[in-house]
Amino acid sequence: MSDMNETLTNPEHMGQTGLRGAVVGDTRLSSIDGEKGELIYRGIDIHDLARSSTFEEVAYLLWFGALPSKAHLDEFHANLGRHRSMPPELLATLRTLPKKAVPMDALRTAVSALGLLDPNVNDMSEAAHIEKATRLTALVPGILAAYHRISEGLEPIASDPALDTAANFLYMFTGKAPDAKAARVLDVSLILHADHGMNASTFAAIVTASTLSDMYSSVTSAIGALKGPLHGGANEGVIHNLLEIGSIENVDAWVEKKLVAKEKIMGFGHAVYKAYDPRATELKAIAKEVGAAAGTTKWVEMTERMEQAVWKGKQLYPNVDLYSASVYYTLGIPTAYFTPVFAISRVAGWTAHVIEQYADNKLLRPRANYVGPRGVKYVPLGERTADVKL
Ligand code: COA
Repeated sequence: MSDMNETLTNPEHMGQTGLRGAVVGDTRLSSIDGEKGELIYRGIDIHDLARSSTFEEVAYLLWFGALPSKAHLDEFHANLGRHRSMPPELLATLRTLPKKAVPMDALRTAVSALGLLDPNVNDMSEAAHIEKATRLTALVPGILAAYHRISEGLEPIASDPALDTAANFLYMFTGKAPDAKAARVLDVSLILHADHGMNASTFAAIVTASTLSDMYSSVTSAIGALKGPLHGGANEGVIHNLLEIGSIENVDAWVEKKLVAKEKIMGFGHAVYKAYDPRATELKAIAKEVGAAAGTTKWVEMTERMEQAVWKGKQLYPNVDLYSASVYYTLGIPTAYFTPVFAISRVAGWTAHVIEQYADNKLLRPRANYVGPRGVKYVPLGERTADVKL
Protein backbone atom coordinates (compact mmCIF):
# COMPACT_ATOMS: atom_id res chain seq x y z
CA MET A 1 0.00 0.00 0.00
CA SER A 2 2.78 2.41 0.89
CA ASP A 3 4.46 1.60 -2.44
CA MET A 4 1.26 2.45 -4.29
CA ASN A 5 0.89 5.73 -2.36
CA GLU A 6 4.49 6.55 -3.14
CA THR A 7 3.88 5.92 -6.85
CA LEU A 8 0.77 8.04 -6.90
CA THR A 9 2.09 10.97 -4.93
CA ASN A 10 5.65 11.13 -6.20
CA PRO A 11 5.62 13.46 -9.23
CA GLU A 12 8.61 11.57 -10.64
CA HIS A 13 6.32 8.60 -11.23
CA MET A 14 3.08 10.29 -12.16
CA GLY A 15 3.61 10.20 -15.90
CA GLN A 16 4.24 6.45 -15.87
CA THR A 17 1.29 5.28 -13.85
CA GLY A 18 -1.57 5.56 -16.34
CA LEU A 19 -3.41 6.31 -13.06
CA ARG A 20 -3.27 2.56 -12.23
CA GLY A 21 -4.51 2.08 -8.68
CA ALA A 22 -5.53 5.74 -8.27
CA VAL A 23 -8.88 6.15 -6.54
CA VAL A 24 -11.08 8.90 -7.97
CA GLY A 25 -13.91 8.59 -5.47
CA ASP A 26 -16.46 6.27 -3.87
CA THR A 27 -18.94 4.22 -5.85
CA ARG A 28 -21.74 1.84 -4.88
CA LEU A 29 -22.20 0.59 -8.45
CA SER A 30 -19.64 -2.08 -9.27
CA SER A 31 -16.37 -3.48 -8.05
CA ILE A 32 -13.62 -5.65 -9.50
CA ASP A 33 -11.32 -7.91 -7.52
CA GLY A 34 -8.52 -8.22 -10.05
CA GLU A 35 -6.62 -10.86 -8.09
CA LYS A 36 -9.61 -13.17 -7.68
CA GLY A 37 -11.20 -12.41 -11.05
CA GLU A 38 -14.43 -11.19 -9.46
CA LEU A 39 -16.91 -8.58 -10.64
CA ILE A 40 -19.97 -7.44 -8.70
CA TYR A 41 -22.78 -5.02 -9.57
CA ARG A 42 -24.21 -3.52 -6.36
CA GLY A 43 -22.83 -6.52 -4.47
CA ILE A 44 -24.23 -9.22 -6.77
CA ASP A 45 -21.81 -11.55 -8.51
CA ILE A 46 -21.68 -11.11 -12.29
CA HIS A 47 -22.08 -14.87 -12.85
CA ASP A 48 -25.44 -14.85 -11.01
CA LEU A 49 -26.60 -11.84 -13.01
CA ALA A 50 -25.47 -13.33 -16.33
CA ARG A 51 -27.28 -16.58 -15.65
CA SER A 52 -30.50 -15.30 -14.07
CA SER A 53 -31.04 -11.61 -14.76
CA THR A 54 -31.81 -9.41 -17.77
CA PHE A 55 -30.12 -6.28 -19.09
CA GLU A 56 -33.12 -4.10 -18.23
CA GLU A 57 -33.17 -5.44 -14.68
CA VAL A 58 -29.44 -4.69 -14.42
CA ALA A 59 -29.99 -1.10 -15.63
CA TYR A 60 -32.66 -0.71 -12.92
CA LEU A 61 -30.29 -2.22 -10.36
CA LEU A 62 -27.52 0.20 -11.32
CA TRP A 63 -29.69 3.35 -11.35
CA PHE A 64 -31.96 2.66 -8.39
CA GLY A 65 -29.84 0.36 -6.23
CA ALA A 66 -32.58 -2.27 -5.99
CA LEU A 67 -33.68 -5.48 -7.64
CA PRO A 68 -37.09 -4.43 -8.93
CA SER A 69 -40.39 -6.09 -8.10
CA LYS A 70 -42.13 -7.59 -11.13
CA ALA A 71 -44.49 -4.59 -11.26
CA HIS A 72 -41.62 -2.09 -11.15
CA LEU A 73 -39.65 -3.99 -13.78
CA ASP A 74 -42.68 -4.04 -16.09
CA GLU A 75 -43.15 -0.30 -15.56
CA PHE A 76 -39.45 0.29 -16.22
CA HIS A 77 -39.61 -1.78 -19.42
CA ALA A 78 -42.66 0.16 -20.62
CA ASN A 79 -40.91 3.44 -19.87
CA LEU A 80 -37.83 2.40 -21.86
CA GLY A 81 -40.17 1.41 -24.70
CA ARG A 82 -41.83 4.87 -24.67
CA HIS A 83 -38.45 6.59 -24.79
CA ARG A 84 -37.42 4.64 -27.88
CA SER A 85 -39.28 6.91 -30.31
CA MET A 86 -36.64 8.71 -32.28
CA PRO A 87 -37.04 12.53 -32.52
CA PRO A 88 -37.53 13.32 -36.25
CA GLU A 89 -34.69 15.87 -36.11
CA LEU A 90 -32.33 13.14 -34.89
CA LEU A 91 -33.35 10.82 -37.70
CA ALA A 92 -32.81 13.70 -40.14
CA THR A 93 -29.33 14.24 -38.64
CA LEU A 94 -28.48 10.56 -39.11
CA ARG A 95 -29.47 10.84 -42.77
CA THR A 96 -26.95 13.66 -43.28
CA LEU A 97 -23.96 11.67 -41.94
CA PRO A 98 -21.47 10.09 -44.35
CA LYS A 99 -22.73 6.59 -45.17
CA LYS A 100 -19.31 5.04 -44.67
CA ALA A 101 -18.61 6.60 -41.27
CA VAL A 102 -17.41 4.45 -38.41
CA PRO A 103 -20.64 3.64 -36.50
CA MET A 104 -19.05 4.70 -33.19
CA ASP A 105 -18.46 8.14 -34.71
CA ALA A 106 -22.06 8.30 -35.91
CA LEU A 107 -23.22 7.32 -32.42
CA ARG A 108 -21.02 9.97 -30.79
CA THR A 109 -22.46 12.65 -33.10
CA ALA A 110 -26.05 11.44 -32.59
CA VAL A 111 -25.80 11.43 -28.78
CA SER A 112 -24.36 14.93 -28.90
CA ALA A 113 -27.25 15.99 -31.18
CA LEU A 114 -29.74 14.39 -28.80
CA GLY A 115 -28.58 16.82 -26.12
CA LEU A 116 -29.44 19.74 -28.41
CA LEU A 117 -32.96 18.38 -28.74
CA ASP A 118 -33.66 18.08 -25.01
CA PRO A 119 -35.22 21.28 -23.67
CA ASN A 120 -34.35 20.08 -20.13
CA VAL A 121 -30.70 19.45 -20.96
CA ASN A 122 -29.50 21.55 -18.02
CA ASP A 123 -32.11 20.43 -15.48
CA MET A 124 -29.99 19.02 -12.66
CA SER A 125 -32.81 17.48 -10.62
CA GLU A 126 -32.63 13.78 -9.81
CA ALA A 127 -35.85 13.14 -11.75
CA ALA A 128 -34.31 14.80 -14.83
CA HIS A 129 -31.17 12.68 -14.48
CA ILE A 130 -33.24 9.48 -14.49
CA GLU A 131 -35.28 10.76 -17.43
CA LYS A 132 -32.11 11.43 -19.45
CA ALA A 133 -30.50 8.11 -18.48
CA THR A 134 -33.67 6.34 -19.62
CA ARG A 135 -33.78 8.31 -22.86
CA LEU A 136 -30.14 7.61 -23.66
CA THR A 137 -30.34 3.90 -22.83
CA ALA A 138 -33.58 3.58 -24.81
CA LEU A 139 -32.31 5.45 -27.86
CA VAL A 140 -28.71 4.27 -28.33
CA PRO A 141 -29.76 0.91 -29.87
CA GLY A 142 -32.26 2.63 -32.19
CA ILE A 143 -29.70 5.23 -33.28
CA LEU A 144 -27.28 2.45 -34.25
CA ALA A 145 -29.93 0.38 -35.99
CA ALA A 146 -31.20 3.42 -37.92
CA TYR A 147 -27.69 4.50 -38.93
CA HIS A 148 -26.90 0.96 -40.08
CA ARG A 149 -30.03 0.79 -42.22
CA ILE A 150 -29.55 4.28 -43.68
CA SER A 151 -25.95 3.47 -44.58
CA GLU A 152 -27.15 0.29 -46.33
CA GLY A 153 -29.74 2.28 -48.31
CA LEU A 154 -32.62 0.84 -46.24
CA GLU A 155 -35.37 2.61 -44.33
CA PRO A 156 -35.06 2.70 -40.52
CA ILE A 157 -37.63 0.63 -38.65
CA ALA A 158 -39.76 1.84 -35.73
CA SER A 159 -39.09 0.07 -32.44
CA ASP A 160 -41.35 -2.62 -31.03
CA PRO A 161 -42.13 -1.61 -27.43
CA ALA A 162 -43.12 -5.17 -26.54
CA LEU A 163 -39.54 -6.39 -27.09
CA ASP A 164 -36.76 -6.01 -24.57
CA THR A 165 -33.64 -3.96 -25.33
CA ALA A 166 -31.65 -6.81 -26.93
CA ALA A 167 -34.50 -8.27 -29.00
CA ASN A 168 -35.63 -4.83 -30.12
CA PHE A 169 -32.12 -3.92 -31.25
CA LEU A 170 -31.89 -7.08 -33.37
CA TYR A 171 -35.34 -6.35 -34.79
CA MET A 172 -34.58 -2.72 -35.65
CA PHE A 173 -31.16 -3.66 -37.03
CA THR A 174 -32.19 -6.57 -39.26
CA GLY A 175 -35.87 -5.83 -39.88
CA LYS A 176 -36.70 -9.44 -38.95
CA ALA A 177 -38.45 -10.85 -35.88
CA PRO A 178 -35.48 -11.83 -33.68
CA ASP A 179 -34.70 -15.43 -32.85
CA ALA A 180 -35.36 -15.87 -29.09
CA LYS A 181 -32.03 -17.63 -28.48
CA ALA A 182 -30.03 -14.95 -30.31
CA ALA A 183 -31.86 -12.24 -28.35
CA ARG A 184 -31.05 -13.95 -25.03
CA VAL A 185 -27.39 -14.33 -26.01
CA LEU A 186 -27.22 -10.63 -26.78
CA ASP A 187 -29.09 -9.82 -23.57
CA VAL A 188 -26.51 -11.77 -21.52
CA SER A 189 -23.71 -9.98 -23.32
CA LEU A 190 -25.35 -6.66 -22.44
CA ILE A 191 -25.52 -7.73 -18.77
CA LEU A 192 -21.81 -8.56 -18.83
CA HIS A 193 -20.80 -5.21 -20.35
CA ALA A 194 -23.09 -2.89 -18.35
CA ASP A 195 -20.56 -1.65 -15.81
CA HIS A 196 -16.95 -2.21 -14.89
CA GLY A 197 -15.64 0.01 -12.14
CA MET A 198 -13.62 3.05 -13.14
CA ASN A 199 -12.80 2.02 -16.71
CA ALA A 200 -11.52 4.61 -19.20
CA SER A 201 -14.88 5.55 -20.74
CA THR A 202 -16.64 5.78 -17.38
CA PHE A 203 -13.79 7.96 -16.15
CA ALA A 204 -14.23 10.18 -19.23
CA ALA A 205 -17.96 10.42 -18.44
CA ILE A 206 -17.51 11.42 -14.82
CA VAL A 207 -14.70 13.89 -15.57
CA THR A 208 -17.16 15.70 -17.85
CA ALA A 209 -20.00 15.38 -15.32
CA SER A 210 -17.75 16.71 -12.55
CA THR A 211 -17.63 20.09 -14.30
CA LEU A 212 -21.46 20.03 -13.92
CA SER A 213 -21.78 19.70 -17.66
CA ASP A 214 -24.89 17.82 -18.84
CA MET A 215 -25.41 14.08 -19.17
CA TYR A 216 -25.38 14.07 -22.98
CA SER A 217 -21.95 15.73 -22.96
CA SER A 218 -20.75 13.16 -20.42
CA VAL A 219 -21.95 10.22 -22.52
CA THR A 220 -20.50 11.80 -25.68
CA SER A 221 -17.11 11.92 -23.93
CA ALA A 222 -17.51 8.30 -22.89
CA ILE A 223 -18.34 7.12 -26.42
CA GLY A 224 -15.16 8.79 -27.69
CA ALA A 225 -13.13 6.93 -25.06
CA LEU A 226 -14.81 3.56 -25.62
CA LYS A 227 -14.03 3.66 -29.34
CA GLY A 228 -10.27 3.21 -28.87
CA PRO A 229 -8.68 -0.20 -29.58
CA LEU A 230 -7.23 -0.42 -26.08
CA HIS A 231 -10.76 -0.23 -24.65
CA GLY A 232 -14.05 -1.19 -26.38
CA GLY A 233 -12.51 -1.26 -29.84
CA ALA A 234 -10.58 -4.42 -28.94
CA ASN A 235 -13.48 -6.75 -29.85
CA GLU A 236 -13.35 -5.55 -33.46
CA GLY A 237 -9.56 -6.08 -33.43
CA VAL A 238 -10.07 -9.70 -32.33
CA ILE A 239 -12.22 -10.58 -35.31
CA HIS A 240 -9.86 -8.81 -37.71
CA ASN A 241 -7.06 -10.97 -36.27
CA LEU A 242 -9.08 -14.20 -36.61
CA LEU A 243 -9.90 -13.37 -40.23
CA GLU A 244 -6.25 -12.57 -40.91
CA ILE A 245 -5.10 -15.86 -39.34
CA GLY A 246 -7.66 -17.75 -41.42
CA SER A 247 -7.53 -21.22 -39.88
CA ILE A 248 -6.64 -23.01 -36.67
CA GLU A 249 -3.33 -24.41 -38.02
CA ASN A 250 -1.98 -20.86 -38.38
CA VAL A 251 -2.84 -19.66 -34.87
CA ASP A 252 0.32 -20.71 -32.99
CA ALA A 253 2.76 -19.24 -35.51
CA TRP A 254 0.73 -16.00 -35.73
CA VAL A 255 0.69 -15.59 -31.94
CA GLU A 256 4.41 -16.33 -31.67
CA LYS A 257 5.21 -13.75 -34.34
CA LYS A 258 3.14 -11.08 -32.56
CA LEU A 259 4.71 -11.81 -29.17
CA VAL A 260 8.25 -11.80 -30.58
CA ALA A 261 7.49 -8.46 -32.25
CA LYS A 262 6.10 -7.25 -28.87
CA GLU A 263 2.80 -6.34 -30.50
CA LYS A 264 -0.37 -6.23 -28.41
CA ILE A 265 -2.84 -8.99 -29.20
CA MET A 266 -6.40 -7.74 -28.90
CA GLY A 267 -8.59 -9.50 -26.36
CA PHE A 268 -5.77 -10.26 -23.91
CA GLY A 269 -4.45 -8.57 -20.80
CA HIS A 270 -6.21 -6.17 -18.50
CA ALA A 271 -5.29 -3.15 -16.41
CA VAL A 272 -7.04 -4.61 -13.33
CA TYR A 273 -7.55 -8.37 -13.74
CA LYS A 274 -4.55 -10.48 -12.93
CA ALA A 275 -6.79 -13.56 -13.14
CA TYR A 276 -9.37 -14.86 -15.62
CA ASP A 277 -11.87 -12.11 -16.47
CA PRO A 278 -15.20 -13.52 -15.20
CA ARG A 279 -17.00 -11.98 -18.18
CA ALA A 280 -14.72 -13.96 -20.49
CA THR A 281 -15.68 -17.18 -18.65
CA GLU A 282 -19.35 -16.53 -19.42
CA LEU A 283 -18.73 -15.40 -23.00
CA LYS A 284 -16.50 -18.39 -23.76
CA ALA A 285 -19.33 -20.76 -22.79
CA ILE A 286 -21.81 -18.70 -24.82
CA ALA A 287 -19.46 -18.59 -27.82
CA LYS A 288 -19.30 -22.40 -27.79
CA GLU A 289 -23.10 -22.71 -27.59
CA VAL A 290 -23.72 -20.12 -30.29
CA GLY A 291 -21.10 -21.70 -32.56
CA ALA A 292 -22.55 -25.19 -32.08
CA ALA A 293 -26.11 -23.96 -32.71
CA ALA A 294 -25.02 -22.17 -35.89
CA GLY A 295 -22.90 -25.12 -37.05
CA THR A 296 -19.79 -22.87 -37.22
CA THR A 297 -17.43 -23.64 -34.35
CA LYS A 298 -14.41 -22.50 -36.36
CA TRP A 299 -14.14 -19.04 -34.76
CA VAL A 300 -14.52 -20.18 -31.19
CA GLU A 301 -12.06 -23.04 -31.76
CA MET A 302 -9.53 -20.61 -33.22
CA THR A 303 -10.11 -18.27 -30.28
CA GLU A 304 -9.51 -21.07 -27.78
CA ARG A 305 -6.33 -22.03 -29.57
CA MET A 306 -5.24 -18.41 -29.46
CA GLU A 307 -5.95 -18.35 -25.73
CA GLN A 308 -3.71 -21.41 -25.23
CA ALA A 309 -0.91 -19.99 -27.39
CA VAL A 310 -0.95 -16.58 -25.66
CA TRP A 311 -0.90 -18.27 -22.27
CA LYS A 312 2.03 -20.45 -23.32
CA GLY A 313 3.98 -17.52 -24.74
CA LYS A 314 3.20 -14.70 -22.31
CA GLN A 315 0.88 -15.94 -19.51
CA LEU A 316 -1.81 -13.40 -20.36
CA TYR A 317 -5.46 -14.06 -19.58
CA PRO A 318 -8.24 -13.28 -22.05
CA ASN A 319 -10.47 -10.28 -21.38
CA VAL A 320 -14.15 -9.65 -22.17
CA ASP A 321 -13.42 -8.77 -25.80
CA LEU A 322 -11.84 -12.08 -26.80
CA TYR A 323 -14.93 -14.24 -26.86
CA SER A 324 -17.55 -11.52 -27.44
CA ALA A 325 -15.98 -11.18 -30.90
CA SER A 326 -16.86 -14.70 -32.06
CA VAL A 327 -20.28 -14.47 -30.37
CA TYR A 328 -21.21 -11.33 -32.31
CA TYR A 329 -19.65 -12.59 -35.52
CA THR A 330 -21.62 -15.82 -35.35
CA LEU A 331 -24.81 -13.86 -34.58
CA GLY A 332 -24.22 -12.03 -37.88
CA ILE A 333 -23.54 -8.60 -36.36
CA PRO A 334 -21.22 -6.67 -38.70
CA THR A 335 -17.75 -6.13 -37.23
CA ALA A 336 -18.03 -2.33 -37.18
CA TYR A 337 -20.99 -2.74 -34.80
CA PHE A 338 -19.15 -4.82 -32.16
CA THR A 339 -18.00 -1.77 -30.19
CA PRO A 340 -21.37 -0.01 -30.65
CA VAL A 341 -23.06 -3.09 -29.10
CA PHE A 342 -20.72 -2.59 -26.13
CA ALA A 343 -22.01 1.02 -25.96
CA ILE A 344 -25.66 -0.16 -25.99
CA SER A 345 -24.90 -1.84 -22.70
CA ARG A 346 -22.33 0.46 -21.10
CA VAL A 347 -24.57 3.52 -21.47
CA ALA A 348 -26.47 2.11 -18.46
CA GLY A 349 -23.26 2.12 -16.43
CA TRP A 350 -22.06 5.51 -17.69
CA THR A 351 -25.33 7.19 -16.79
CA ALA A 352 -25.40 5.47 -13.37
CA HIS A 353 -21.90 6.80 -12.64
CA VAL A 354 -22.82 10.28 -13.88
CA ILE A 355 -25.87 10.33 -11.56
CA GLU A 356 -23.65 9.17 -8.69
CA GLN A 357 -21.11 11.88 -9.53
CA TYR A 358 -23.77 14.63 -9.57
CA ALA A 359 -25.08 13.44 -6.19
CA ASP A 360 -21.72 14.08 -4.48
CA ASN A 361 -19.76 16.18 -6.90
CA LYS A 362 -16.20 17.37 -6.71
CA LEU A 363 -14.45 18.70 -9.81
CA LEU A 364 -12.02 16.02 -11.04
CA ARG A 365 -8.80 17.83 -11.60
CA PRO A 366 -5.53 15.85 -11.32
CA ARG A 367 -2.03 17.15 -11.91
CA ALA A 368 0.52 16.35 -14.59
CA ASN A 369 4.19 15.99 -13.88
CA TYR A 370 5.85 18.78 -15.88
CA VAL A 371 9.06 17.48 -17.42
CA GLY A 372 9.73 20.35 -19.85
CA PRO A 373 12.26 23.18 -19.65
CA ARG A 374 11.93 26.21 -17.36
CA GLY A 375 13.23 29.80 -17.48
CA VAL A 376 13.32 29.92 -21.29
CA LYS A 377 13.68 33.44 -22.74
CA TYR A 378 10.91 34.53 -25.15
CA VAL A 379 12.37 35.40 -28.58
CA PRO A 380 10.29 38.10 -30.33
CA LEU A 381 8.88 37.08 -33.70
CA GLY A 382 10.96 39.65 -35.59
CA GLU A 383 14.20 38.16 -34.21
CA ARG A 384 13.34 34.56 -35.26
CA THR A 385 14.74 33.33 -38.53
CA ALA A 386 13.46 29.80 -37.88
CA ASP A 387 11.32 27.97 -35.29
CA VAL A 388 12.86 28.18 -31.83
CA LYS A 389 12.55 24.59 -30.59
CA LEU A 390 12.03 24.13 -26.86
N1 COA B 1 -0.77 -8.72 -26.04
C1 COA B 1 0.55 -8.89 -25.87
N2 COA B 1 1.21 -8.45 -24.79
C2 COA B 1 0.49 -7.82 -23.86
C3 COA B 1 -0.90 -7.61 -23.97
C4 COA B 1 -1.52 -8.11 -25.13
N3 COA B 1 -2.83 -7.94 -25.31
N4 COA B 1 -1.35 -6.96 -22.88
C5 COA B 1 -0.30 -6.77 -22.11
N5 COA B 1 0.81 -7.28 -22.68
C6 COA B 1 2.16 -7.28 -22.16
C7 COA B 1 2.83 -5.93 -22.36
O1 COA B 1 3.45 -5.82 -23.60
C8 COA B 1 3.76 -5.91 -21.19
O2 COA B 1 4.84 -6.74 -21.50
P1 COA B 1 6.33 -6.43 -20.96
O3 COA B 1 6.21 -6.40 -19.48
O4 COA B 1 7.13 -7.56 -21.50
O5 COA B 1 6.69 -5.10 -21.55
C9 COA B 1 2.96 -6.58 -20.09
O6 COA B 1 2.08 -7.49 -20.76
C10 COA B 1 2.16 -5.62 -19.26
O7 COA B 1 1.38 -4.85 -20.16
P2 COA B 1 0.81 -3.42 -19.90
O8 COA B 1 0.46 -2.75 -21.20
O9 COA B 1 1.68 -2.67 -18.95
O10 COA B 1 -0.50 -3.77 -19.15
P3 COA B 1 -1.60 -2.77 -18.86
O11 COA B 1 -2.24 -3.26 -17.64
O12 COA B 1 -1.16 -1.37 -18.86
O13 COA B 1 -2.52 -2.90 -20.17
C11 COA B 1 -4.27 -3.27 -21.62
C12 COA B 1 -3.82 -3.29 -20.17
C13 COA B 1 -5.73 -3.70 -21.66
C14 COA B 1 -4.15 -1.84 -22.19
C15 COA B 1 -3.40 -4.23 -22.43
O14 COA B 1 -3.45 -5.51 -21.87
C16 COA B 1 -3.78 -4.27 -23.89
O15 COA B 1 -3.39 -3.38 -24.66
N6 COA B 1 -4.57 -5.30 -24.31
C17 COA B 1 -5.01 -5.40 -25.69
C18 COA B 1 -6.25 -4.52 -25.90
C19 COA B 1 -7.46 -5.09 -25.27
O16 COA B 1 -7.78 -6.27 -25.40
N7 COA B 1 -8.20 -4.20 -24.59
C20 COA B 1 -9.45 -4.55 -23.98
C21 COA B 1 -9.37 -4.44 -22.49
S1 COA B 1 -10.86 -5.02 -21.73
